[in-house]
Formats: sequence, C-alpha cells, structure tokens
Amino acid sequence: MAERWSPDSWRKKPIVQVPDYPDATALADVEKQLATFPPLVFAGEARSLKKALARVAKGEAFLLQGGDCAESFAEHGANNIRDFFRMFLQMAVVLTYAASSPVVKVGRIAGQFAKPRSSPMEKRDGKELPSYRGDIVNDIAFTPEARTPDPRRQIEAYRQSAATLNLLRAFAQGGYANLASVRQWMLGFVKDSPQSRRYVELSQRISEALAFMQACGLDLESHPELRTTEFYTSHEALLLGFEQALTREDSTQPGTYYATSGHMIWIGDRTRQPDHAHVEYARGIKNPLGLKCGPSLKPDELIRLTDILNPENEPGRLTLIGRFGADKVGAHLPALVRAIKREGKSVIWSCDPMHGNTITSASGYKTRPFDLILKEVRGFFDVHNAEGTYAGGVHLEMTGQNVTECTGGVRQISDEDLNDRYHTVCDPRLNAEQSIDLAFVLAELLKKERSGPQKIMPAAASL
Ligand code: PEP
Ligand code: CO
Repeated sequence: MAERWSPDSWRKKPIVQVPDYPDATALADVEKQLATFPPLVFAGEARSLKKALARVAKGEAFLLQGGDCAESFAEHGANNIRDFFRMFLQMAVVLTYAASSPVVKVGRIAGQFAKPRSSPMEKRDGKELPSYRGDIVNDIAFTPEARTPDPRRQIEAYRQSAATLNLLRAFAQGGYANLASVRQWMLGFVKDSPQSRRYVELSQRISEALAFMQACGLDLESHPELRTTEFYTSHEALLLGFEQALTREDSTQPGTYYATSGHMIWIGDRTRQPDHAHVEYARGIKNPLGLKCGPSLKPDELIRLTDILNPENEPGRLTLIGRFGADKVGAHLPALVRAIKREGKSVIWSCDPMHGNTITSASGYKTRPFDLILKEVRGFFDVHNAEGTYAGGVHLEMTGQNVTECTGGVRQISDEDLNDRYHTVCDPRLNAEQSIDLAFVLAELLKKERSGPQKIMPAAASL
C-alpha cells in the first residue's frame, strides 16, 4: 500500500541536488509568497497535453520537446522567445508535412531554470565556490556573492516564466502560428543557409495545398487548426520547494493536484531514485511526467519507477526520455524496451541525444558533435524498429539563435568556431540551422517508421 501523498510529503524523503540556502527563514518566506501567486498553467491544459501524449503512446503522433538547457535572466526577451517559437514551428511543420505525423509541441521553456550539478562546489585557480545551479538559485559569476543561493531569485523566475508564457500563448493562438505564414517563420540567418532550399520547397508545397483547398471552396479562416497551434511548456522539477508552492488542487476535481509551474515536468537522471524526494513529489501530481533514463538505469528499477509514477498505466502520463550516448544506446535501450513491453506498460519512448554526447573540445568548451547527436537518434529508431515499438519523440537542447555551441552541421562548426557565439549558461545547444536540419533527418526516419507494416497510420494529420 503506497503511503499517503501530499504536496509536501517529499520533505520526509532523502533528497539530492539541494541548494545550500544560508537563510532558511528567507527561503520559507519566499515559498509562502509563491504559494499565493496565480498558477502559471491550468489543470485543464495539462490534461489536454496528456490526451495529446496518449496519441503519441499509441503511435499516432510524435513528441517534439526542446529548448534551452537552462533559461537565463539575462537572455530573457521578446525576440529570443519569438525566434525560438518560429524555429519550433518550422521543425514541427517539417515533421508534420514530410512524415505526415501530427506533432505534439512541448518547449523546455517558461520555467526551465534549475540545474543539477555533478559537484556541489566548483574550483577555479585554487578558489572554491558553490556550483552554479541555474538562475533560479544563484548567479553564474564566479564570486562568493553571486554563487550564494538567494531565494528571491525564485520570484524573478516566476515573473519571467509568466511573461514568457504570456507571449507564447499570444504567438500560438493570436495568428502568428497561422499555416498560411509558413514562409515567414524562416529566420533571417537561416534564409542564407545551404539547406534553406529544402524548407522553401516544403513551404511552397504547403502554400499550394492551402490555395488549392481554398479554391475548392474551403474557408481556411474557419479552421482553427490551421490558424492556431497548441504549444505546451515543460521543465525539470528539481527545486521542489518552488514546485510545492505552485502545486494546486484542481477546483474541478477536488482531491487531485497539479503542478501549475508548467504543463509537463520531468525527473532528471540524477534525481530518479525510487525512494527519494523527487519521485515522491512527481507521483502525486496529475501532470504528464518525463523520466530521464541514463545508462545506469536497470530494467527492474525502471519497472519499479513506472509502477510508482504511473500505477494506473494511463497512456500519455509517462514519457521515458533515454539519454545514453551515441555509442551506448544500442547496448542499453533494448533491455529497457523489452521490460516495459513484457510488463504491458503504456509509455512514450523519447530520445534525448544531447546529454550522453557531451564532450570537452580541444579549445576547452563543453560541446556536442552534431554527428553524434544524429547517430544517437538513428540508434534510437533502429532499436524501436527491431523491437517493434514506437520511437515516439525527441528531447533536444536548442535555441532559435545563431549560436556556435555544438560542432558540425551544414556549416561545419569547428572547435575553433565555438568561441564565436558561445552563449549558453549551461549545456551546448543546437542552433536554429542544426535544429531544422535535424528535423529533416527525423522526418525521414519517422516516415520510414510509420510506413512499416506493423504501424498504424494516423487518421488525420494536424499541425
Ligand atoms: C537536462 O536535461 O538538462 C539534464 C540535466 O539532463 P539529465 O538529467 O538527463 O542529465
Ligand atoms: Co542540459
């Protein structure tokens, strides 16, 4: 019999990756204040996402999840959000059109601030300070003041998340996502890129199809699915005091609780111990959940986690996000897939080809070779093809900006180029070109997968 869950029951469990706040009273005050703030998202929206994800679990749609490794206070602004959203739409349209697959769009955005670290302290030139844990906790500058965790930063993270969400809602519903604008989503610097021709061709075909439907008498304006899109938010639920403060009872279904900090939350690879606090918190909320699965996760532990996190085996509730590394996915994923299949669990299999492929370049930057990212994605599809299961999604670190953080891609970013525009405050992200390039590769893989003999074709493709 499971113990009783409450929004604060995680506090009685062992926990890792907790910031060392010097002033416990100040922290408690901030949490109390956050608990009075309006929810960022609503229970009904989280339920809609779960419904959309249930289609992914059945092999009828594809999950595209991505965004910054860590959002930053300094980079917050309308242009960055717009560019990210445009790039996301471009990727989604490539997948929808080229693979005839509906795409469930989930950003790592509007709340992706807290970071787990491999070490609580960082050493530089003989000086040791607390590690940077994301802008919601401390500042990246290497000084004792900046690195001291400050609870007031949680208020700023809430404010920024609210502003970001407000703009995303306007973009998604207010006309920006209109399929008739498919050409205009192209970002300036991507227009000059060697592979932009493919996108222009694709958008031309979409425009022609729309013009054809209009000529046939279809009133495109009366179809909201062509004019608007559903866009959801997600983040790692790492800072549990913040999450608890934004956990709210659903007024329409008393006794059920939702994280209102984002539509979907996930548990990181470092905090997925079944008897620890992060799993305890996540099991009690009704949002769709992600679980990062790294090379150390054993099949029996995964089954145990699945039992805890999705005891009713609800489709769309649980997304398993593998992050093994290009050379390990083939060795680790099959056993997990077989265990889940044997136990009859409904899950979404997603691939994070970023976190298992991080290396330090000769020039000293943390980077990820684009080729390894592609290799892990292909390996992920290969495993699912071999096991007869559905490769349901990807989880990416990416930005709409023209950064140089991951090596390779059509412009062959080299180790030396990393210095040009390396802006991330945490892990290296795909830039807009690399992301769209990856979307074309994914579309091919998905098309092949969906045309396989055992796969069900979707009834209708909507963007
Ligand atoms: C992340 O997604 O930024 C992250 C820290 O991933 P993981 O928990 O898989 O290492
Ligand atoms: Co990361």
